Amino acid sequence: MKKGTLVGVDVGTTKICSVIARVEQEDFRISGVGVSPSAGLKKGVVVNLTETIESVRRSLEQAERDAQVGVDSVFVSVGGVHVQGLNRSGKTEIRSKTGEIGKEDVSRALADANSMQLPRDYEVIHMLTQGFTVDGQGHTKDPLGLVGRRLSVNLHLVLNASAALQNVVNAVNKVGVSVNGVVMQQLASAEAVLTEDEKELGVILLDIGGGTTDFAFYRLGSIRESAVLPIGGDLVTKDIAIGLKVTLEEAERLKKDQGTVFPERVDPEAMLEIREIGTGRPRTLLYQDLCRVIQARCQEILLEVRKLVDGIHMRREMLTGVVLTGGGALLDGLAEQAEEILEIPARVGYPMPMESEKDLAFDPSHATALGLLRYALQMHNTGSGNGAGTMLPELARARRGGLMNWFFRKIT
Ligand SMILES: Nc1ncnc2c1ncn2[C@@H]1O[C@H](COP(=O)(O)OP(=O)(O)OP(=O)(O)O)[C@@H](O)[C@H]1O
Ligand SMILES: [Mg+2]
Repeated sequence: MKKGTLVGVDVGTTKICSVIARVEQEDFRISGVGVSPSAGLKKGVVVNLTETIESVRRSLEQAERDAQVGVDSVFVSVGGVHVQGLNRSGKTEIRSKTGEIGKEDVSRALADANSMQLPRDYEVIHMLTQGFTVDGQGHTKDPLGLVGRRLSVNLHLVLNASAALQNVVNAVNKVGVSVNGVVMQQLASAEAVLTEDEKELGVILLDIGGGTTDFAFYRLGSIRESAVLPIGGDLVTKDIAIGLKVTLEEAERLKKDQGTVFPERVDPEAMLEIREIGTGRPRTLLYQDLCRVIQARCQEILLEVRKLVDGIHMRREMLTGVVLTGGGALLDGLAEQAEEILEIPARVGYPMPMESEKDLAFDPSHATALGLLRYALQMHNTGSGNGAGTMLPELARARRGGLMNWFFRKIT
């Protein structure tokens, strides 16, 4: 990383978004942006290395030209169905004579939580501390110096398939830059669109991208659950193309420009002009038919999300509802449909404004890239980028040493 420069690259299924920022004291100012269509990924996973490299190269070069600076290392977002979140707890006896909790006790509790057998070919990419308890009492984020006999910790671990992770890192390395760290996409997006109050009171983040829908549940300031669904906005486009017999390009345009989730709200007699696939002949179709296709697919996506929400069994803890982000969240009426299906309040999450010299749209499709910078800045400032604001001693040391984390040594 060039001194004082932070770079985030969101490797998405539909676009690669690179953002360069200049670090100024504790904050940053965006100085360059590059967005290029993504070829080579399916549902968040690299399936064609050459095309992915080219897409990343185009996006980064554009950002470098924009910022008038060369980049040698970046933070990268990772997604896809191989990304799995799971909760683990660990405990330890406090060893000091006075019963005061020291760094070693915290390390042993963390090591205990992290001692489980990983699924074959998976690695831990985040070890996020949810909180500690001392002698089964209370809930604290910083147990150092407290007195007790037993210390327990709850962690949210994020695993990724080693090969899928390595392919993203390889693609970025082949462009000639190294990877400072990888960040799960919904963790990055959350940094851009969620307020600290929402995270404290209970909120669901839903990043609806082209290929995947990334889910995260926050409460008491920490991530509690995360999951990735292999469905996203591109399925809506595909359904329109198949159902209305138009090209994917035209389906995408129809969806973005005229699509809405509620057919009953458009004029029942309104017609749309389209070009038939194959022949290119002009044809008309009922506007409501477009909206019916959209409604059906969005309902299907949201019912899958509902299964995740119900699976958490903590409806009363989701006080602030769901925040929809990612490009898919821009679909007209989707937040309203989400409220109906999920039965919690919903809003569209636009990235919170940041200092910028550039004309970057602070729209939901840029949430991951912008949040990635915030996340990277946390690592830069504190050496701890776990998003929970909690000290993880070994991890912090390893990061200060220039590594994403100590589990991750072999691929960075
Ligand atoms: N105005 C809009 N209305 C409806 N859908 C939109 C709009 N703008 C973008 N989209 C949809 O958003 C999706 C792309 O979102 P985004 O850019 O967040 O995806 P991505 O990050 O590249 O993909 P992923 O996160 O799945 O890897 C596409 O399906 C696109 O059609
Ligand atoms: Mg995305």
